[in-house]
Amino acid sequence: MLVLGIETSCDETAAALVDDGRVVRSNVIGSQAEHHRPFGGVVPEIAARAHVELMLPVLDRALVEGGATYDDLDGIAVTAGPGLVGALLVGVAAAKGLALATDAPLIGINHLEGHVCAVQLEHGALSPPLVALVISGGHTSIALLDERGRFSTLGATIDDAAGEAFDKVARFLGLPYPGGPEIDRLAVSGDPAAIAFPRALSGGGYDLSLSGLKTAVIRELRRREAAGEAVDTADVAASFQEAVVDVAVDKTLAAALAHGVEQVAIVGGVAANSRLREQMAARCAREGLRLLAPAPALCTDNGAMIAAAGANRLARGERSPAGFDADPNLTLEAVEGLTSREGSA
Ligand code: KG4
Ligand code: ZN
Repeated sequence: MLVLGIETSCDETAAALVDDGRVVRSNVIGSQAEHHRPFGGVVPEIAARAHVELMLPVLDRALVEGGATYDDLDGIAVTAGPGLVGALLVGVAAAKGLALATDAPLIGINHLEGHVCAVQLEHGALSPPLVALVISGGHTSIALLDERGRFSTLGATIDDAAGEAFDKVARFLGLPYPGGPEIDRLAVSGDPAAIAFPRALSGGGYDLSLSGLKTAVIRELRRREAAGEAVDTADVAASFQEAVVDVAVDKTLAAALAHGVEQVAIVGGVAANSRLREQMAARCAREGLRLLAPAPALCTDNGAMIAAAGANRLARGERSPAGFDADPNLTLEAVEGLTSREGSA
């Protein structure tokens, strides 16, 4: 089954061809980072306009690199939410137009489910139950995927997403956008124990809070500046990163153990973080859990993960009704309105 995956929820215009939900034939990402860099973050209006410009060239490249034509498609999957509404609409409109032109079945995909399905491009078909840490620029949550393939959110950030905190702290350290990979690189030469930044909500439960940590880092930088003290940016980066990783690993492991699952997945842009991968691997090994982590390039937004999620649903006979729409606030649990069984659309 050859599925085209389209992703435009934030600032990557992405399209990919995936065979049987696991084999990536092409994975094209038209990054808009240059458009947003001067502003230090994603500007929704600029993102939507850049998607319009990039969508068709990215689609064409995905087809050419995958050695296929539009007639070869067995399905089209597109991110329906959550994300920036103007950005989502560009991908959804493109997918609807293509589905109409090719007669290929169309399926709207939850972006977070897409991140989780990136796992199958690396490790083969998902075999739930598993607990997933979905950690990205827009979202940070811990979700259970049960035996029946249903998601339930066990906990989530009550304020900033982890990637958002990485990007903001990076900005204060004078690093370019997107800051997550920059902090990752800088932290390698820093001491993670140099500054004891707070670990919020570490007492229990699966919710996370990261805005206090971000503020603590900014306050520390300002204090040192005012006192004329030298700032070792590598130590600040490493200590901040360690605080995020500690909390994320502790909470994910606690959720996995409490729910009796034997597999943990880390997905989303921040799952590309080398320290998070290292610490999660060490803790999972200690607890006898299997860690599922897509390659870093499949952690950040891409079309292949959307095609993988689409292949799963299309293979179960699910389709999206022609009138389905982008939903900027789509939750992991919400599939109604997005999918219907064949014949009921
Ligand atoms: O999943 P993603 O591409 O987009 C969203 O759905 O949000 O995640 C992007 C986020 C950005 O905040 C970026 O700084 C962060 O992922 N990120 C990282 C790393 N690579 C990307 N954060 C920490 N370490 C990394 N290596
Ligand atoms: Zn994402």
